[in-house]
Amino acid sequence: MIHIPRAEYSRRRKALMAQMEPNSIAILPAAAVAIRNRDVEHVYRQDSDFQYLSGFPEPQAVIVLMPGREHGEYVLFCRERNAERELWDGLRAGQEGAIRDYGADDAFPITDIDDILPGLIEGRDRVYSAMGSNPEFDRHLMDWINVIRSKAHLGAQPPNEFVALDHLLHDMRLYKSAAEVKVMREAARISAQAHIRAMQASRPGLHEFSLEAELDYEFRKGGAKMPAYGSIVASGRNSCILHYQQNDALLKDGDLVLIDAGCEIDCYASDITRTWPVNGKFSPEQKAIYELVLAAQEAAFAEIAPNKHWNQAHEATVRVITAGLVKLGLLEGAVDELIASEAYKTFYMHRAGHWLGMDVHDVGEYKVGGEWRVLEVGMALTVEPGVYISPDNQQVAKKWRGIGVRIEDDVVVTKQGCEILTSGVPKSVAEIEALMAAARVQAS
Ligand code: GLY
Ligand code: MN
Ligand code: MN
Repeated sequence: MIHIPRAEYSRRRKALMAQMEPNSIAILPAAAVAIRNRDVEHVYRQDSDFQYLSGFPEPQAVIVLMPGREHGEYVLFCRERNAERELWDGLRAGQEGAIRDYGADDAFPITDIDDILPGLIEGRDRVYSAMGSNPEFDRHLMDWINVIRSKAHLGAQPPNEFVALDHLLHDMRLYKSAAEVKVMREAARISAQAHIRAMQASRPGLHEFSLEAELDYEFRKGGAKMPAYGSIVASGRNSCILHYQQNDALLKDGDLVLIDAGCEIDCYASDITRTWPVNGKFSPEQKAIYELVLAAQEAAFAEIAPNKHWNQAHEATVRVITAGLVKLGLLEGAVDELIASEAYKTFYMHRAGHWLGMDVHDVGEYKVGGEWRVLEVGMALTVEPGVYISPDNQQVAKKWRGIGVRIEDDVVVTKQGCEILTSGVPKSVAEIEALMAAARVQAS
C-alpha cells in the first residue's frame, strides 16, 4: 500500500516546531469517536491535523509538542493496551507502540493526562492549539491551565498567550511534498478506475445507487477505507442539485448522470466528477453543454502555473462559459456585461475549484493580504466548472431544461504548469461514447 512514510511525520513535527515561538507548547487532540446510533459507531476517521503530525490512527489520544524539551519534544498521550478491550475492538499501539512505531519521544496513558499535562504546560509562555474548533477540548485545556493557576502561590507560572495553531499548520498542509503527491496520485488512480467502472455499468433501468455500488467496489478493492466525501450520483434533473446525495432515482433512457466521487488513501482525498449519458449516447443539447464545460476546464488548466494567481483559472471558466451560453442562445447580451453583472450565475453558481489534500475542501488561505494567492509548486487543487440548467427555468427552450454537467479533475502545481492527477478517466464525448459502446458489446 502506498502511504506517507514515518520519517515524513517527524519532518513535519520538526518543521512546525521550528516555526513556533521560543518556550511554547502545542497541543492537539485526536478526533472523537462519533456515535451513529445507540452503541454503533461511525467509521473512525482521524482528525486531519492530528494525522498530519503523527500518522497515529487511534482515538483518545493527544499530541504534545514542546520544542527544546530535554527529555523529548514529542509526547503522545494514548490508550493503554488492554487485553479485554483489544479482544472486542482491535489492537492498540499502547505507550510502547507509540514510541516504537510512531516516533514519540515519550508516551503516557490518556487516563493520566489531567495529572501530567499541567506540569508540561507550566513554565511555557505560549500554548498553540486549534482554538474554537473543539469546545470540549477547549474546556479541558482551560481546566489544565486553571490547575496551574491554582498553584500560582507556590510559584507556578501559567502561560500568558494562546495562539491559534491553524495558521502555521494549515499553511504547511497547503504545500504537498513528493510523498503526499504520490499518495494523492494513488487515490486519483483508484477513483479514476471507479468512474470507468460506473461508466461501463451504466444503462437505463438501473438506479443511481447501482452505480454508487460500482464506485464503492473499486474504492475498497483499491485499498481505500472510504470515500473522501459522500458520493454524488445524480441523474436527470438531479444533476442540477449541486450536493445531491439521495442516489436512489431510476436511471432513465435519454438522461445524463453526473457522478462526483473520490476515495481517500492514507487520509488524502481525490475528487472527480464526470457526466455521461445513461444510455451511452449524448443528445445534441447534452453534447453542446458538455463540450462547453470541457472547453472551460481546458481554459482553466492553462491558467494554473507558478506565479499565476488563484482566481485566474476561475475567471477563465467564467469567460468561456458565458461566451458559450450566449452562442447557444441561453444568455443574451455582450459577454463582458454578462460577466460584470454575473448573469452567468444562473447556470454556473459555484467556483472553479478548491484546495485539495487531507480534507476534500482542504485548508489553506485563498487570499493573502487581501489579494488572491499566487500559485506555487506543490499546491493541489480541483478544476471543476459546470453548467446547470434548472428544470424550472422558463427563460430557456424546453430542450435545455434539466441538463446539468460538471467535469472535475485534480491537479498539482508543477514548475512548468500543472500535473493532472485524474487524467485516467475518459473525458471527450468520443472517448466516453466509445468506452460505453465497448462495455455494451461485451455485456451482450
Ligand atoms: N465533491 C465536492 C466538490 O466537488 O467540491
Ligand atoms: Mn467533487
Ligand atoms: Mn471538488
